[in-house]
Amino acid sequence: MVFCRECREQVENCAHLLTSLGVVMVGFVLLSESERSEYEKRAAREGRKLSGLDTTSVKSSEKGNHMAMIDSKIVGLRDGRKVLIRCAQESEAPALLEAVRIVFLDGDGMITEADEFTKTEDDEKAWIKALNDDPKQLLLVADVDGLIVGNIDFHIKKARRVSHWGSFGMSVRPEWRGCGVGTALLNCLLVWARSVPEIEKVTLGVRADNHRAIALYKKHGFVQTGLEKNYLKMSDGSYVDHYTMETFVRS
Ligand SMILES: CC(C)(COP(=O)(O)OP(=O)(O)OC[C@H]1O[C@@H](n2cnc3c(N)ncnc32)[C@H](O)[C@@H]1OP(=O)(O)O)[C@@H](O)C(=O)NCCC(=O)NCCS
Repeated sequence: MVFCRECREQVENCAHLLTSLGVVMVGFVLLSESERSEYEKRAAREGRKLSGLDTTSVKSSEKGNHMAMIDSKIVGLRDGRKVLIRCAQESEAPALLEAVRIVFLDGDGMITEADEFTKTEDDEKAWIKALNDDPKQLLLVADVDGLIVGNIDFHIKKARRVSHWGSFGMSVRPEWRGCGVGTALLNCLLVWARSVPEIEKVTLGVRADNHRAIALYKKHGFVQTGLEKNYLKMSDGSYVDHYTMETFVRS
């Protein structure tokens, strides 16, 4: 094909621009891949199997809009360790149940007592599937070298008039608290919520004596909307109040 000089220069400029863009994009991919492979290498050195580190299954772009999914994210913790925040998979029902049972046994910040938590693996599997299958709900786990150290779930009600907002629950294994796992989970949840046009508000309920959780929520912009007096009656007859909190994600 024959171009005049001006056209040829424009074509050459475009080609140059496209090549540069290509180099930059390849650079980004290599960067995240090398970070991920470092994580995988460390896990292999320590003899740990990365549970569910199947990055292809958590790419929202590849799944379309029919599932609640996020791209997995590696986050540095305060002590220098790294945590992978990613979607949970149905096959992880036993691991997730184990992590949650430990939290119930510890009891700190919880409403339900450990012996009242009777979920089976099948229940857990169905719950993971229900959350993953719904683009307006989300279940994330914090994975350190294959061990689930924390989780967060966002759920909405079915009724249309109240389906523009939802609530979340979260927990972190006792020995992993205070080093940023909760922050990483909540950050990812809020980034996701802001990316879902239908979600306008995120709410939660928390025991009034759960100072660590309340500090975390306030740091992320949640404000108290209600106080429920004597919400919990403890086995010794004492009472604990309960707060409701919320943050708007569309403003
Ligand atoms: C609440 C919970 C999820 C937070 O997770 P985490 O990994 O410990 O949270 P992080 O380490 O990211 O952040 C905790 C914040 O609370 C602060 N904090 C810790 N103890 C605190 C206390 N006694 N009073 C006030 N703030 C406190 C930390 O300093 C940190 O804030 P910073 O980032 O400004 O330093 C976790 O502690 C947990 O699982 N608790 C038991 C279950 C629970 O309460 N779930 C929530 C039910 S609503």
